[in-house]
Amino acid sequence: QLPLFGAQTLAGKRVLVTAGGTRERLDPVRFLTNDSSGKMGYAVAAAAQQAGATVTLITAPTKLTAPAGVTVVPIQSTTDLAQAVLERFPANDALVMAAAVADFQPVAVADQKIKKTPANDEFILKLKKTPDILKAVAKIKRADQVTVGFAAETQNVLANGEKKLQSKHLDMLVANDVSRADIGFNGDENQVTFILPNGVTDQTPKTSKKVIARVLVDRVAQLFK
Ligand code: CTP
Ligand code: CA
Repeated sequence: QLPLFGAQTLAGKRVLVTAGGTRERLDPVRFLTNDSSGKMGYAVAAAAQQAGATVTLITAPTKLTAPAGVTVVPIQSTTDLAQAVLERFPANDALVMAAAVADFQPVAVADQKIKKTPANDEFILKLKKTPDILKAVAKIKRADQVTVGFAAETQNVLANGEKKLQSKHLDMLVANDVSRADIGFNGDENQVTFILPNGVTDQTPKTSKKVIARVLVDRVAQLFK
């Protein structure tokens, strides 16, 4: 089951990976974000590089160190991420969208720190939907390019995953059940199901994110064939 390390399965390919949880700013000292650690995306970037690819990692802030030799593009917000992905995607062969992207962003960002006043015992924050990056990518995707999405689900993992695969025109969707405390967002381990457009699904054992990243990279290499 484990792909051979050092096998240059992605030699000559350019791979774009996104990682981490985007930050949506409210004011100069506050932002909205999520629990993503970035570990899965960083592991994919490392595995793709080990497989011989030229890797660009577009990353929201994380506590991780990027793998040596990978080009790092730091971003904060979903808007930054969308811009960075859409700019770089045309020059890449594959996109692995492991970033945990905010679904909503504040309608307005305050220039100054938001203050409490005697009048505001309640504070209503107005949010608007962020752009769906993978849907935008689908519009400019060429037949020779591969796109892979992730789906964090707390229920109906396969059915929701299949819907996302189709709506985002992906070549593969990596679904994981984030309702389980032992896997997913923050830990070192994960268990995912790969969903392909032909309806084939394949669940990995529960294992390290590094091993899952290698299996994923091996599958991306197969998608080019
Ligand atoms: N994604 C994206 N742009 C967004 C939100 C998500 O490109 N604005 C990407 C994620 O990086 C991931 C995939 O879409 O690869 C699925 O993300 P997920 O949050 O599971 O799905 P959503 O489409 O946001 O739907 P929901 O959160 O409502 O389930
Ligand atoms: Ca979402």
